[in-house]
Amino acid sequence: MACRLTLCGMDNQRAGDMTALDGRELRDALGWFATGVTVITTRSPDGDLVGFTANSFTSVSLDPPLILFSLNRQASCLPIFEDCAHFAVNILAEHQAALSSRFATASHEKWHGVSVETWEGGCPILADALANFECAVHAVHDGGDHRIFLGRVLRMRSRGAGKPLLFSRGAYRLLGGPLGAPEEAAAASSTSALDNGGLFAEHEPWTSA
Ligand SMILES: Cc1cc2nc3c(=O)[nH]c(=O)nc-3n(C[C@H](O)[C@H](O)[C@H](O)COP(=O)(O)O)c2cc1C
Repeated sequence: MACRLTLCGMDNQRAGDMTALDGRELRDALGWFATGVTVITTRSPDGDLVGFTANSFTSVSLDPPLILFSLNRQASCLPIFEDCAHFAVNILAEHQAALSSRFATASHEKWHGVSVETWEGGCPILADALANFECAVHAVHDGGDHRIFLGRVLRMRSRGAGKPLLFSRGAYRLLGGPLGAPEEAAAASSTSALDNGGLFAEHEPWTSA
């Protein structure tokens, strides 16, 4: 198996010098961390729908229920997210790769034909997503060439069945079957999306306006 050790020294970090820590190599290495795919949405002060594709979404805390994502400082939608009070995270299903690509491209046509709902916070909620989380902005932090948004989950909806779209090594991927003994695999397959070890369980019922 071909591999290479890259040293990431303090001097390089201080100088912001990417000669030892090459950007391409870093992206390739990080790409081994497979993720789901989300579209993060909000509404501009003028009421326009705003959204972009993100795989930086992650859960942070159960109590309080916090999640985060990071947004590139170059993104055209950054000023709107920095000013908004609410945003929504929509977890995409495996049939939504084209939708993901559309929301990853700067365009005014992102929303054409997309089925959207509105909950109390006013954010566009993608009707066909596997799960939707509407959040209040909890904090926004510096994240180098990104900004890190922490959100407090106010309301959510989760489908009982479905398959998530995955992203790894620069490509969309499908979820394989569960690992383990046949009976464990069968149990894992039949586990409801809401039966998730208590994640957000105390906040039921999930509301949608
Ligand atoms: C699978 C995937 C995941 C992405 N994740 C992120 C992300 O987490 N943060 C980010 O800033 N851009 C991410 N991008 C790129 C943005 O979706 C893209 O640059 C988008 O056009 C930015 O919004 P804008 O159109 O307002 O500039 C991702 C793209 C893809 C295809």
